[in-house]
Amino acid sequence: MTTYPSVTVEGKTTVVIGGTSGIGEAIALGFADDGADVVATSRTPEAVAETAEKLRERGARTIEQTCDVADRSSIEELCDTTVAEFDDVDVLVNSAGTAARSTFLSLDEADWERVLDVQLTGVFRTCQVFADRMDSGSIVNISSMSADLARTRLMPYCAAKAGVNALTRCAAKELAPDIRVNAIAPGFVMTPLTQETYGDGTQIRADIDERTPLGRVADREEIVGSAIYLGSDSASFTTGEVLFVDGGFTQSAL
Ligand SMILES: NC(=O)c1ccc[n+]([C@@H]2O[C@H](COP(=O)([O-])OP(=O)(O)OC[C@H]3O[C@@H](n4cnc5c(N)ncnc54)[C@H](O)[C@@H]3O)[C@@H](O)[C@H]2O)c1
Repeated sequence: MTTYPSVTVEGKTTVVIGGTSGIGEAIALGFADDGADVVATSRTPEAVAETAEKLRERGARTIEQTCDVADRSSIEELCDTTVAEFDDVDVLVNSAGTAARSTFLSLDEADWERVLDVQLTGVFRTCQVFADRMDSGSIVNISSMSADLARTRLMPYCAAKAGVNALTRCAAKELAPDIRVNAIAPGFVMTPLTQETYGDGTQIRADIDERTPLGRVADREEIVGSAIYLGSDSASFTTGEVLFVDGGFTQSAL
């Protein structure tokens, strides 16, 4: 009988940056449920401790370490602490997120800088620091379908995510064959970042439901399977790819 690499991250040491809320936390908990050891991090110790408790309840080994992707030294500290505890890192997931809503002409340059610093340069920093220390493995960047769309009043966000896709492809080429680098491009997902905008009863929510072939926004848990796949040995020949998980939104037209 032929054996196939399994779609599992069991036994893999995984670091999820932006892993204490929304999509990142769902991925951290999903990986733990699948048997991975998981370090879920963000800037605040309380949030890190809360998610660490949920990880331990699922039987995962973890450590509590904050990280700010805007600060290279804190990424280096996270990497050092994780390697000291687990010896190696198998999977890095980048899910830190922020946004600024403004029209182009009134966009404050400081907001442009802030969004680019977290959403694009932050991914550059974490990929560079971790890839230098990983013997082999997989990096999964949470991009967005917005990389390919002109979203209303979200110019820095769209530009940052387009950059993440380009960074993903370039890093995949340079880090091959030992480290695979891929991105996930979610569509509209209900999380703390979006619940005010996409909440029940808003016009934008009605528009999303109408224009999305699957007819709704996603639950954050619906992004987890794609991350497990890309982190697993089953994706051993997939690198430099952007996997859309958007309910069909990007490819649909009138
Ligand atoms: N929710 C959606 O509809 C959606 C769609 C497509 C892509 N995304 C992307 O998914 C990722 C997660 O978004 P979410 O919706 O789960 O948001 P969220 O606000 O629930 O989670 C974002 C996480 O990033 C952390 N974070 C923010 N700034 C940070 C920094 N400087 N350093 C470290 N951590 C930081 C936050 O503390 C939080 O844990 C983001 O990159 C976002 O752009 C979200």
